[in-house]
Amino acid sequence: MFSRENLIILEEIGSTQDVAYDMAKRWAPHGVAVMALNQTSGRGRMGRSWSSPTGKNLALSTILRPSCKPAEAPLYGLAASVAAAMTVEAFCSQIKAQVKWPNDVIVDGRKIAGILPQALIGNSKTEFVVIGLGLNVNSGLSDLPGEIREKTTSMLSLSSRSFDLVEVALSFLGSMNELHDNAERFGFRNILDMWNARWAHRGLFVERPEVRGIAEGIDDTGALLVRTLDHGLVSVSGGEAHFHALPEKQDH
Ligand code: BTN
Repeated sequence: MFSRENLIILEEIGSTQDVAYDMAKRWAPHGVAVMALNQTSGRGRMGRSWSSPTGKNLALSTILRPSCKPAEAPLYGLAASVAAAMTVEAFCSQIKAQVKWPNDVIVDGRKIAGILPQALIGNSKTEFVVIGLGLNVNSGLSDLPGEIREKTTSMLSLSSRSFDLVEVALSFLGSMNELHDNAERFGFRNILDMWNARWAHRGLFVERPEVRGIAEGIDDTGALLVRTLDHGLVSVSGGEAHFHALPEKQDH
C-alpha cells in the first residue's frame, strides 16, 4: 500500500516514469512510488518534455495494480488529477483547485500540475497503471521560462510559503489510495462525480481540429462530450482541447 516505506526517493534520474514503469514490469507491487529531486529527461503528455528546477517541485510516479477493465484504466488519470487537486487544497488554505480535461490541475486558470497516466494491458487485463505527477510546489516565477510564466502557478506562489516535498508526495499518495480503493469497491462513478465537481470548463466553447462546440461533460470512459451544431453530441478522447468563453470571429 501507499506509505513512506514504499516511496523511493532519488536525487537525479532521467524520468521517474521510466523507472516506475520498468519496476512495475519486473517486480514492483501496487503502491510503490518513485520520486526524484531532479529529472534530466522528464516526460509530459503527447511526447512533450517536462522540466522543473532541481529540488523545488514534485516529480512522482506511482504504481497501481487495479482490477479494472482495460477500457477503464485511463480513468485513473482523472482520479489522479482529483487527488492532486485535493493535495493542493490540503496545503494551501483558501485555494480552489480545478481540473482541465483530460487531467491537468489548474488554479485561477493557471496550470499547477500535470498527470501522465500509462497503463500496461495484457491478455485483456489491466496489468498495471503508472501515474506520473508533476506538481509545482516550491518553484517561483523566476524559475520559469518567460513563455510559460503567465500560464502556470505553484503552491509557493499561491501561499507565500514553501513545503516539504516528501509531505506533499505522501498527501497525494494518501488521496490516490482513497480514490483507488473507492474505484475498486464502487466503480468509477464517485471519481467521475468528483472530477465533474472540479471541472473548470463546463459550458465553454471547445475547439479541436476535428470538432468545435460546447463542452458538455465527460462520459463513463473519460471522453469529452462536445455539443456541436452539425453532429449533435460528439465524444472526443486522447490529445487535448482548447477551451474559451466565446467562439472566435467567423469569416462568414
Ligand atoms: C503533462 O502535463 O504533460 C504531464 C506531466 C507529467 C510529468 C511527470 S513528472 C513525474 C513523471 N516523470 C515524468 O517523466 N513525467 C511525469
